[in-house]
Amino acid sequence: MPSLHRYPPTTDRSLRVSSQADELLLDWARQSLLTDVPTTVVHDRFGAVALRLSAPVQFIASYHSQEEALRRNAGGYLPANVARLTDASPVTHQALLRVPKSLELFEYYLAYLGVNAVPGARLAAGFMTRHFTPRLLEISARYAGTVTQSRARKKARLLLLSDLYLPAPESGPRPMLRNVIDYQGARYTQYYGVFSSQHVDFATQFLLDSWPDDLPAPASILDIGCGSGIIGDQLLRRYPAARLTATDDFSLAVASARENLPADRATVRYAHTLATVADASQELVVTNPPFHQGYENTLDTSLSLFGEVQRVLTPAGQFFVVANRHLNYATHLRRLFREVTVVRENAKYVVYRCGRSPVLTE
Ligand SMILES: C[S@@+](CC[C@H](N)C(=O)[O-])C[C@H]1O[C@@H](n2cnc3c(N)ncnc32)[C@H](O)[C@@H]1O
Repeated sequence: MPSLHRYPPTTDRSLRVSSQADELLLDWARQSLLTDVPTTVVHDRFGAVALRLSAPVQFIASYHSQEEALRRNAGGYLPANVARLTDASPVTHQALLRVPKSLELFEYYLAYLGVNAVPGARLAAGFMTRHFTPRLLEISARYAGTVTQSRARKKARLLLLSDLYLPAPESGPRPMLRNVIDYQGARYTQYYGVFSSQHVDFATQFLLDSWPDDLPAPASILDIGCGSGIIGDQLLRRYPAARLTATDDFSLAVASARENLPADRATVRYAHTLATVADASQELVVTNPPFHQGYENTLDTSLSLFGEVQRVLTPAGQFFVVANRHLNYATHLRRLFREVTVVRENAKYVVYRCGRSPVLTE
């Protein structure tokens, strides 16, 4: 069995690389799957299912960091049969899926697999019983001939779907499950599973409502964790001469942002770090940073991105962060930036403005 590690690494020792839901999926796979056709594996964050199957695997990657985790856990190379969720759906005979926290993303996965499912295709979806909701059954029933549940074992359970298919009107080369959000006279579309699906996130609105009028117009803007691109788009409207770079780890966020942002002024990168952003290239950096990864809460991702911001800001550049107050990012930001001020705060949210000058260590 390969030695598996989380990527990005975490200092939180309660976070695991695999769960009992993975073990249940693997046991079911050993007993029930055909070994002469590939098994499609979906939402397997670190490869804990895919890399322990003995049969051929078609891996579906949703996240850029997931691709890196798989590469590292596979011994340094990305297996050839990796497709992205934004690629055409592969032919699916049988599939193993870790149920994501977002029910919309769960539905997107079923639709994505249903596009090219062979007649009689089967799927097992693994979850921890505390995360069960009857909505899982309702959604599954729309994409499968029959849906049953396994018995629970060690607080995990499987949903077993037979005869996967894609119902009309979602047919086509890839499912187009999207939400539409109207905000400040603009219309944004976002694929299922992208952050804040029914309305513009309240922290995001707080940031945009608090935007200072005295900021010199930047020529370059970087929006980290852009989601469907709302912050970047609103700033491009405010600063007509600016160009935007936007990044997100989630492939469906990137696809949404590409549809929402003006192609002649914005570049959207599928990335989980700022490695492709040049040193001292950004006059304005902005983020509503991630602190959830599915069911897990962690500051690790945000803090690592904040560290990279120091490098990409111009000497006079400004960095804006909006966050839930209770996360107390100020402590962390003050370790990285000499000037950290609160632009606005209320009972729930706070907007920080940071100047680049790094804090010098002795
Ligand atoms: C709080 S949401 C904000 C989304 C969007 N900016 C908004 O305001 O609606 C955080 C976003 O960060 C993305 N994300 C998570 N980890 C990331 C990383 N390492 N690099 C870039 N984006 C990341 C998530 O996919 C999510 O879209």
